[in-house]
Amino acid sequence: MIVLGIESSCDDTAAAVLVDRDVRSSVVASQDAVHQKYGGIVPELASRSHLRAIVPVIEQALSKAHVTLTDVNGIAVTAGPGLVGSLLVGLSTAKAIAFARQLPLVGVNHLEGHLLSPQLEAEVAFPYLVLLVSGGHTSVYWAEGYGCYRCLGLTRDDAAGEAFDKVAKILGLGFPGGRAIDDLARSGDREAIRFPRARIKPGRSGRRFDFSFSGLKTAVWQYVREHVPAGEAIAAVAASFQEAVVDQLLDTTLAAANDVGAQRLVIAGGVAANSRLRERALAAGAKFGLAVSMPSFRYCTDNAAMIAYAGSWRLARGDCDPFTLNASADLEL
Ligand code: KG4
Ligand code: ZN
Repeated sequence: MIVLGIESSCDDTAAAVLVDRDVRSSVVASQDAVHQKYGGIVPELASRSHLRAIVPVIEQALSKAHVTLTDVNGIAVTAGPGLVGSLLVGLSTAKAIAFARQLPLVGVNHLEGHLLSPQLEAEVAFPYLVLLVSGGHTSVYWAEGYGCYRCLGLTRDDAAGEAFDKVAKILGLGFPGGRAIDDLARSGDREAIRFPRARIKPGRSGRRFDFSFSGLKTAVWQYVREHVPAGEAIAAVAASFQEAVVDQLLDTTLAAANDVGAQRLVIAGGVAANSRLRERALAAGAKFGLAVSMPSFRYCTDNAAMIAYAGSWRLARGDCDPFTLNASADLEL
């Protein structure tokens, strides 16, 4: 089965071709240069950039995979969550191709794409626990099988990636800033400043493994305002902040793993590219007998291969969404 995947939920325009779940091409056009000067994503500019990029990106994905639309058996497209104007570009394009070529189309939840992303490189047997950490999401899911995902925890405020980006902005490191903090933190003393680690009590939702990063972000802002760090001192702030984020992510995830009796842990999403998180997750896995899987960088950040993969199990059983399928900014998993 040849599946064309299309992803445009945020600021990356992506298309990929999977042949029997094997990635033959995965093309991503980044918009970082468009949004950099604003220090964050400007939704209207994101939609316009998607419009310009979507057709060339799809054509490139097909040609790199040495296939044409005639060979494609089905289309998987991100239907949400995300920026609605961005989502609509990918969704409308997918619908147009599906209509013209009479192909089955399935709408995919972007989060399911991230949850299944490690499967693109090596099989991870269900059930497994997933820490999903990206610019828009920070959550823990218990994945029991295709389509069976239970949310055990969510962020109550900022996503971890958002905290990285905001702290990078405070430190004058540009946008997006996760990678810049990761790089700078390598030369910084991570024990220099003891930033707060939020401990979240179970709320009315009943979820016991929630996160919070806004207090940490404010603590960094206050520290920078008071101490005006320069040179090496900036690297120490970056390293100490990063350590606080990693502590919080791993403490909560390991508590959830213990609670459900998980034997396998997946860390996915853009922040899963963080070198300190990867290093400490592997060490914790070895200590607590958890097999840890993390996608390589190109499948941590947004891509269409994970969307094609997440759509392929539904296409394989003959599912097809109607053309009334709509984009949903807050689509739940
Ligand atoms: O998954 P993703 O590409 O997009 C969303 O769905 O949000 O994640 C992007 C996020 C950004 O916030 C970026 O700063 C962060 O991932 N990120 C990192 C690293 N690389 C990307 N955060 C920390 N360390 C990194 N090395
Ligand atoms: Zn994402």
